[in-house]
Order: sequence, then structure tokens, then C-alpha cells
Amino acid sequence: MIRAASAALALAALAAQPASAAPDGGRLFMLTCKGCHQPKTSVMAPSLQGVAGRQIAADPVFKYSAGLKAKKGTWTDANLDAYLTAPAVFAPGSLMPMSVASAENRAAIIAFLKTQK
Ligand code: HEC
Repeated sequence: MIRAASAALALAALAAQPASAAPDGGRLFMLTCKGCHQPKTSVMAPSLQGVAGRQIAADPVFKYSAGLKAKKGTWTDANLDAYLTAPAVFAPGSLMPMSVASAENRAAIIAFLKTQK
């Protein structure tokens, strides 16, 4: 939970940036996602290497929530955007507490995820 709190603080700091600064998806990921999502799956979160286009809840090691496991399909841009907007709406009971309010920031993070093969 300390990690979730620090991620929330990082988001608050980002929100204070001037609107003209183009969001850097890699930096946003480092500040708001990496606390939980490491290159290798941990008890905290599944690995997001290659997540773009992958089957939803397909990491062989991570114990997903029933809500996310019940989702069919793959991580398209639209699904990633919906999940990052409101994880518990996209997948009721999802274990992920983090959401990203800004559409611009979501797009930047999704573009970054696609580079993580
Ligand atoms: C506090 C820890 C935490 C943070 C911070 C976090 N996540 Fe997650 N994330 C999780 C957990 C736990 C799951 C598994 C959710 C479930 O099983 O319902 C998950 C699942 C996911 C998935 C689905 C993975 C799959 O294999 O289907 C994606 C995509 C994702 N997170 C993206 C992100 C992004 C992008 C960020 C940063 C904006 C982020 N997460 C921040 C904990 C976190």
C-alpha cells in the first residue's frame, strides 16, 4: 500500500506540470506503474512485457482476480484505455487500484507499453 500511496503522490506531482509539456509514456510508467509492474511477474503484479495485443490475464504465474480472468479478448488499445480509465469498471473485482485520469497520459502510457516486447 505504501507503493500505491507513492504512486498517487507521483500522479499529483505530474498533474502540477504545465499543460504544454507533452506526456512521456516511459516516465509516466516509471512513476505510476513500475512500483508494482516489474519486468518479471511478482506477487504485486503481472509483468507487462508484451502485454499489448496479449490475451487478457494470460501471465502464467500471476494469480489474477476472478473479474479480470472472466474478461475475454486481448489487450487492444481500446481495452487498455478502458482498463486504465477505471480498472474496477472494466473488470469488476480487479485487484489493480491504479487508474489514470488524463486521456493524454493514458495514450502515452499505452504507446510506451507497445514498445515493451
Ligand atoms: C498498486 C499496484 C499496481 C500499480 C501501481 C499498477 N498496477 Fe497494473 N495491475 C496490478 C495488479 C494487481 C494487476 C492484476 C489485476 C487483477 O488480477 O485483477 C494489474 C494488471 C494490469 C494489467 C493487465 C495485465 C494482464 O496480464 O492482463 C495492465 C495492462 C496493467 N495492470 C497496467 C498498468 C499500468 C499501465 C499502470 C500504471 C498506470 C499500472 N498497471 C499500475 C497492480 C498495479
